[in-house]
Amino acid sequence: MAKNIVLLPGDGIGPDVVASAVRVLRKVLQDRDVHVEFSHHLLGGIALDQTGSPFPPETQAAVRAADAVLLGAVGGPKWDVGPGHLRPEAGLLALRKALGVYANLRPVKGHPRLVGASPLREDVAAGVDVMIVRELTGGVYFGERERGTDERGERFARDTMYYSEAEIRRVVRRGFEAAQLRRRKLTSVDKANVLDSSRLWREIVEEMKHDYPDVTVEHALVDSCAMQLVTRPRSFDVIVTENLFGDILSDEAAVLTGSIGLLPSASLGDGPGLYEPIHGAAPDIAGKGIANPLGTILSAALMLRYSFGMDDAASHIEEAVHAVIDRGVRTADLVSQGASGTSGNGYVSTTEMTDAVLAQLSQPRANSSAADPATKAAR
Ligand SMILES: NC(=O)c1ccc[n+]([C@@H]2O[C@H](COP(=O)([O-])OP(=O)(O)OC[C@H]3O[C@@H](n4cnc5c(N)ncnc54)[C@H](O)[C@@H]3O)[C@@H](O)[C@H]2O)c1
Repeated sequence: MAKNIVLLPGDGIGPDVVASAVRVLRKVLQDRDVHVEFSHHLLGGIALDQTGSPFPPETQAAVRAADAVLLGAVGGPKWDVGPGHLRPEAGLLALRKALGVYANLRPVKGHPRLVGASPLREDVAAGVDVMIVRELTGGVYFGERERGTDERGERFARDTMYYSEAEIRRVVRRGFEAAQLRRRKLTSVDKANVLDSSRLWREIVEEMKHDYPDVTVEHALVDSCAMQLVTRPRSFDVIVTENLFGDILSDEAAVLTGSIGLLPSASLGDGPGLYEPIHGAAPDIAGKGIANPLGTILSAALMLRYSFGMDDAASHIEEAVHAVIDRGVRTADLVSQGASGTSGNGYVSTTEMTDAVLAQLSQPRANSSAADPATKAAR
């Protein structure tokens, strides 16, 4: 049966980068005789404009019936004036909730030719390859909260960090599984010297590690981890952590490579996976045809790996992106961020970058990941 991929292009540069990823998906799936059906649906500002809701019922039904969902980005200044529940971002949160995606995976991998784009010194930034697994549907963002005034007339506010054993186990399992596909090291990040929820988290990781004897486990306090991410980022393989800590650490990790347009993400639960680049709708460059599509193309690769079990096809796309960057093909963001190796003086458009990836996919592969454990471990 054909795979059913729901596309949510969204706003700003979202439609451009999603169109690029679809071209790449079509090629790798066709080359492997896998049938796929794509359907476009509304999310975010465009959905608000056309239906009055940022996550309309028609889109809700479509994502629930999907095998996987590919999202561009939502938002823009036009919609920044509405009340909270009538903003594009509310659609995004409702989408994640509807899909029950409790684990957010963000691989952050630098390319040797782009190391100059990192805010870190080159000798620190070179070779960064870390995957953050963030819990996405629990913790303090979803716990009980209260605002009030006490008996002395002072205002107070309270947010609760709550985790059940099952919530911790399912995301930690994702962390172990991700580590098994990479360099087999898992860093569990918490604040166990202060928080009970963290002590439970740590206890559960200790219990679960016996099921994954091939993975080396270490525990780090979140403050120390934040420091080490910028002082010795190469020491990390997979980091697994709760929602709030993961929110902060994944943004910190994202800047290590210096190229926001390059980074993909996968959000996984027990139903369809949600795949999206980490960048936003970039209203400053929307409609100019210069957005970097690689973050979305790499998100499509994650879809093949995690939703369809097509590891080799995913690696093929990753290798093609790597090769294109190696050849010096650059979108404007990569040029302006000081990355080296630009071909000529200029930069290519979104479409030309996608053409370059497609052309690369038609070339014989230098080394197949299936046959090359080193390439696989580098993921
Ligand atoms: N997941 C999402 O949909 C998501 C995430 C973040 C922000 N947003 C929304 O997007 C809008 C803009 O937010 P922002 O400016 O803070 O973040 P942004 O990621 O959209 O843009 C930040 C900067 O990076 C550049 N940039 C981002 N992606 C790029 C790409 N693929 N190629 C080239 N350059 C790229 C932009 O031009 C801009 O200069 C806001 O409405 C925000 O709420 C949405």
